[in-house]
Amino acid sequence: MHTADRRVVLGLHRSRHRRDVLTGALDLGVTAIDTASNYLHHRSHHVLGEVAGDLLPKFSISTKVGYFEDEHSLSPARLRGAVEKTVNDLGREPDALLLHNPEHSAPNAEVLWQACAVLAGAAEKGRCGAWGISTWDPRPLVGLDVPRPDILMVRSGLLVSSGVLDAAEALVTAWRPTRVRGMSPFGGSVTDPVWQKFDPRMFLRTSDATPIQAAFRVAFELPGVEAVAVGTDDTEHLRELCGGLEHEIDADVLRAYWQLLRQSA
Ligand SMILES: NC(=O)c1ccc[n+]([C@@H]2O[C@H](COP(=O)([O-])OP(=O)(O)OC[C@H]3O[C@@H](n4cnc5c(N)ncnc54)[C@H](OP(=O)(O)O)[C@@H]3O)[C@@H](O)[C@H]2O)c1
Repeated sequence: MHTADRRVVLGLHRSRHRRDVLTGALDLGVTAIDTASNYLHHRSHHVLGEVAGDLLPKFSISTKVGYFEDEHSLSPARLRGAVEKTVNDLGREPDALLLHNPEHSAPNAEVLWQACAVLAGAAEKGRCGAWGISTWDPRPLVGLDVPRPDILMVRSGLLVSSGVLDAAEALVTAWRPTRVRGMSPFGGSVTDPVWQKFDPRMFLRTSDATPIQAAFRVAFELPGVEAVAVGTDDTEHLRELCGGLEHEIDADVLRAYWQLLRQSA
């Protein structure tokens, strides 16, 4: 059993929610999981409670609300219902509850503020440990004001466009979240042809990393985040990711890359 390392968050978006993967994660010191009410065909919370109810107290659980069976919604009444359903289905309060991709509802300032206020209120009442916002495309949210979130979750890594990176940084500056978390470091797939076209190890000072470790390591820097939610249903893959966290980034190469991204945008 390794000591807990909160930098790696096991994301359950593509997961089959297998118990052995969860126990494998704990053995590796990965004690944070990230899910959402709509994952696993809207059954993630329920299945987690069923398959691994006894393990859940060992994890820090973040989850998200905003996707309902029929549509995405920021309706305060529906969000309040989703908070209660989350607690019931999981059998415990989540450590963090995030508003899921609010940009999908094209919110104006008032709608977004009220939706956030529901989650902030849930945290105040102890229905979740912390609250925040998870956004796949932060660009439509720039310029909208929200109560100060505990967590902001944004895409991170080498496949993120400069527009999305700049928008994420603008939200960090404007919203001042206590913690910023990255997600989807491989854009959902390591078999996408783009990963054959270059070697992510060019961003490291060290030479003994695997390309996947290098891409994962860069996801902590583009933009700067303290933890990254990554998906895997394979404990050996998770071991590989955890084994590459200490590789040193070549800051000059990274800076040049970000500048190049901006110029080409
Ligand atoms: N808007 C949102 O809130 C949002 C959107 C997207 C994602 N997320 C969060 O971010 C998490 C991760 O995103 P994601 O799953 O879409 O994408 P991802 O983490 O970029 O990629 C997951 C893929 O990478 C593969 N992989 C991981 N480690 C590997 C390794 N060492 N070797 C080979 N393949 C490896 C996995 O395959 P194997 O299973 O074979 O290892 C899986 O197919 C999600 O689960 C979710 O928690 C949030």
